[in-house]
Amino acid sequence: MKKIISVVGARPNFMKIAPLERELKRRPEIEKFIVHTGQHYDKDMSDVFFEQLGLPKPERSLGVGSGGHGAMTGRIMIGFEKACLEIKPDLVIVVGDVNSTIAASLVARKLFIPVAHVESGLRSFDETMPEELNRRLTDCLSNLLFVSEPSGMLNLEREGADMGRVHLVGDIMLETLQMFLPVINGATAWKKFGLEVDEYCLITIHRPSNVDTREALSEVLDIIEATPFPKIFPIHPRTIKKIEEFGFTERIAAIPDFIQAPPQPYTNFLSLLQGCKLIISDSGSVQGEASFFDKPCLVCRENTERPFYQEYGTSKLIGRSLSLFEKAVGEIQAGSYPRSTNEVREIGSHVGRRVVDVIAAFLNQ
Ligand code: UD1
Repeated sequence: MKKIISVVGARPNFMKIAPLERELKRRPEIEKFIVHTGQHYDKDMSDVFFEQLGLPKPERSLGVGSGGHGAMTGRIMIGFEKACLEIKPDLVIVVGDVNSTIAASLVARKLFIPVAHVESGLRSFDETMPEELNRRLTDCLSNLLFVSEPSGMLNLEREGADMGRVHLVGDIMLETLQMFLPVINGATAWKKFGLEVDEYCLITIHRPSNVDTREALSEVLDIIEATPFPKIFPIHPRTIKKIEEFGFTERIAAIPDFIQAPPQPYTNFLSLLQGCKLIISDSGSVQGEASFFDKPCLVCRENTERPFYQEYGTSKLIGRSLSLFEKAVGEIQAGSYPRSTNEVREIGSHVGRRVVDVIAAFLNQ
């Protein structure tokens, strides 16, 4: 029997393994293990996702917790090496671009264990983002590269990847979304917050470039203050800490029609997204999810690793520019903001199955 470890660590990883788990269950010849690094550990940031996604309890929890990049990556490597030596997997699956992704890939390859990377090839070309380094390095180390959108194929080709190992499979995040669509459709999460469908703005901001300096965070708050709709902001722990550190707690409390909420469980968040008028975000995967629901997604970043959703979806880069924000809001109010296309609805089909078919063939070689 072949053994596979799927590695998860941070919030966006949990959704990405749900379709893989479903497909792996159909393969009795493969014994599967989940290793949770513990990069995210709050109930709201981790446990609740396992519950909602129906994921089995991880076989190993490394409990590494927060810290600087070096300390966190190092602790994951020490813990994951031990797990690999005990489990002796034939392959390790890593997803996305978080610190857990690169740490686990490096450990596995140094133990001569093949690595499969799901969500390979994405590039923002912005090396100040820790995720960009994680993506590039993980792709260099991976034996199987599963790409979510066409830009990823071009990026990998340009970088000289062995294209025989590269497979364009589609966006696994949108497959997860579709798996849970019946629950999301029935959720009406906005009602709990006293909001009206199609009348509020959802906000998610947590990237270091937007929250780690007083000036940047203040510019983000300028945008939130200029939003002419009721607003709901489920706040990531990093952002909360920075709001307190920079003394913005009272400024936030004074914003009219503003609801501050804790990080939301998966289906609740997607229900809030499905019911909103627009979303302001600096997240990666939200660009795809907003496009799926045809909701304008104003991205507080100067670049994106997911150009597909700018071209075919509803994502628009505004950086922290108030004038670009106001222009986009004008388009939304006038009904001229670009709509999502069929390409977006098709990119999340059978992704997990394609990945697992390729992995099974690789293991049988
Ligand atoms: C990480 C990922 C980022 C992803 C984000 C989603 C990296 C480099 N970044 O960023 O790509 O978009 O997760 O959520 O891997 N904290 C808690 N409780 C938790 C987790 C974090 O309080 O459960 C606090 C800690 O103070 C920590 C800070 O949040 O230092 C940041 O967490 P960390 O995992 O370092 O990075 P994220 O900003 O969450």
